[in-house]
Amino acid sequence: MKTIFKISIILVSIVLTSCGGVPEGKTDAASSDNAFSVEEVLEMVAAENDITRTLYTKAIVGKGKAQGMKFDEDWRKDDVEAGPLPALFLRGVATSIQKGPVPLGLYLGSDFPINAANKFVGKQADLFEEIKKDQEPKFFYDEEQKLHTAMFADLASAGACVTCHNDHKQTSKSDWKLGDVMGATTWQYPKDSLSYKETVAVLNSYAKGTVDIYVEYLNEIEAFENSEKPEIGEKWPAEGKYLPTAEVFLDSVKKLTSYKTMKHLVAAK
Ligand code: HEC
Repeated sequence: MKTIFKISIILVSIVLTSCGGVPEGKTDAASSDNAFSVEEVLEMVAAENDITRTLYTKAIVGKGKAQGMKFDEDWRKDDVEAGPLPALFLRGVATSIQKGPVPLGLYLGSDFPINAANKFVGKQADLFEEIKKDQEPKFFYDEEQKLHTAMFADLASAGACVTCHNDHKQTSKSDWKLGDVMGATTWQYPKDSLSYKETVAVLNSYAKGTVDIYVEYLNEIEAFENSEKPEIGEKWPAEGKYLPTAEVFLDSVKKLTSYKTMKHLVAAK
C-alpha cells in the first residue's frame, strides 16, 4: 500500500514537473522557493493562539465574571444568555477557519476530557503522553490523513481552568492543578513548506477566526432579553460592565503577538 502511494506521488510529481508546474505536496523544501517549513508556520500560529486564548480567558471571561457576565458551554442555546467558554471560543475559531479557503486544521484535545469527543486517540494520544512530561511541541506527518501535524501543550494557566474542570459534572478527572498540562492544541496543514503569501494567509485565517467567534458573542449579547447588556466600545471588563468591540479585541491581540510574528516574517525575507 505504502509503495503504491509513493509511486503515485512520484508519478504525480513527474507529470506536474513536466507540465512546468510546481508539485503541491513537494517534500523537498530546499528546492522550492518557499519561505517557511510547515513546523515554523504552525509554531507561529500556535503562539498567536496562546496569546489570544489567554487574553480571552483572563481579560474577558475572568474579569467579565467578576462583573456578573455569564459564560456557558450552552451559550448558543436561545434560552441561555451567556458567552462562550474558552474551549468553545477556540472551537469557534476552528470552525471559521474550516469554512474559509486556507487548509489549516485546529483541534483542542486531552487524555481526560470533559467532552468525550475531545479525547486524543492513536498517534496523537502517544505524543500527548510525551508532551505531559516535557511540555515540548511535537511534530509528525499523519500518514492516514496526509497532514503535517503539530501539537502544543495547553496549560492550566489560570485558577478558573482548574476549578471549572474539576467541578464539571461530566469531568473525567477532578484533581487538576495549576500548571498542569490539561490538553494540547493540534494543528494540521497539508504541505511541508509555505510561501510568504501562504504563511500570511494562515495567520490571517486565524485572526479572522477570532474576530468571527467574537462577533458571534457580541451578537448573542445583542439578543439578550433578561440579562444586563455590557456596554460595547473601547473599554474592557476590568473597568466595569464593558466589552471591547471586535476591532479593539483584535487590536490588543495584534499588539501582543505582532512583535514575535514579525521577527519571524522579517527574518525569512
Ligand atoms: C467555566 C468552565 C471552564 C473554564 C474556565 C475552562 N474550561 Fe476548559 N472546558 C470546559 C468545558 C465545558 C469543555 C468541553 C467543551 C466541549 O464541549 O468541547 C472544556 C474543554 C477543554 C479542553 C478540551 C478537552 C476537554 O476537557 O473536553 C481543554 C484542553 C481545556 N478545556 C483546557 C482548559 C484550560 C487550559 C483552561 C484555562 C485557560 C480552561 N479549559 C478553562 C470548561 C471550562
